[in-house]
Amino acid sequence: MEISSLKIFDIRICENSVWDFKICDKRFGFRYPGRLPGQIYANFYYYFSGKNDMILDLFAGSGTSIDVGKLMTRNVIGYDLNPSRKDIIQFDILKDPNRFPKNYFQAIFCDPPYYNMNYKLYSNKKTDLANLNLNDFLKSMELIDLKFNRSIKKNGYFAIIISNKRKNSKLFDLEFKINEIFSKHLTLVHKIIVPYYNTKYQKLWNKNHFITNKFLLIGHRTLFVFQKKY
Ligand SMILES: C[S@@+](CC[C@H](N)C(=O)[O-])C[C@H]1O[C@@H](n2cnc3c(N)ncnc32)[C@H](O)[C@@H]1O
Repeated sequence: MEISSLKIFDIRICENSVWDFKICDKRFGFRYPGRLPGQIYANFYYYFSGKNDMILDLFAGSGTSIDVGKLMTRNVIGYDLNPSRKDIIQFDILKDPNRFPKNYFQAIFCDPPYYNMNYKLYSNKKTDLANLNLNDFLKSMELIDLKFNRSIKKNGYFAIIISNKRKNSKLFDLEFKINEIFSKHLTLVHKIIVPYYNTKYQKLWNKNHFITNKFLLIGHRTLFVFQKKY
């Protein structure tokens, strides 16, 4: 049983829709802006794929998804505009075509920049999603659906993680937009809460600072899991 080998590897599988990991497991990926804890990929692979399945990560960053894939015997292909290591393939979601056939992947996972939260942190490139205005960012999300939907197997999964953003006391409800865009052709099956730790705000001040100043922090991302039911 896969669950017993995950226990041996000391990976916790969550029993509900809050996937709360304070620390990034050092075995997966490396220090990188917006790196996800490898434990999130491990839970995703456990629930939504099986051994030897093909998985595509469109925003591989530090390669966390690939490292977890090796441990869990998943065939993970990592794409990124700014490849950080040799096993990540250079790919621009805005410019490059999808070269994979129909019904190829059991799952596609996306951890894109969350709109401009990491502005110019990944690169200065014009097509870097972190450097786009809101309208173009949302169009790029539509492009993902347009280009890659066909390569997901019937009953396979498409997952995307995103967080809302507040600027000058206005909330940008990116989660709502993401749900709207991908629900057009896919069926939403899970919304998973992934709490934030170590954001730049959280590092700057302790929690009393926010409470005293009545500044309510955004404390989580949401992982949307859609299924292709056709
Ligand atoms: C939040 S990070 C991914 C972090 C990754 N999940 C990890 O654990 O290391 C977002 C990634 O999106 C990439 N990116 C930005 N614009 C892109 C584009 N147009 N096409 C493909 N990747 C892009 C950035 O280079 C960055 O590595």
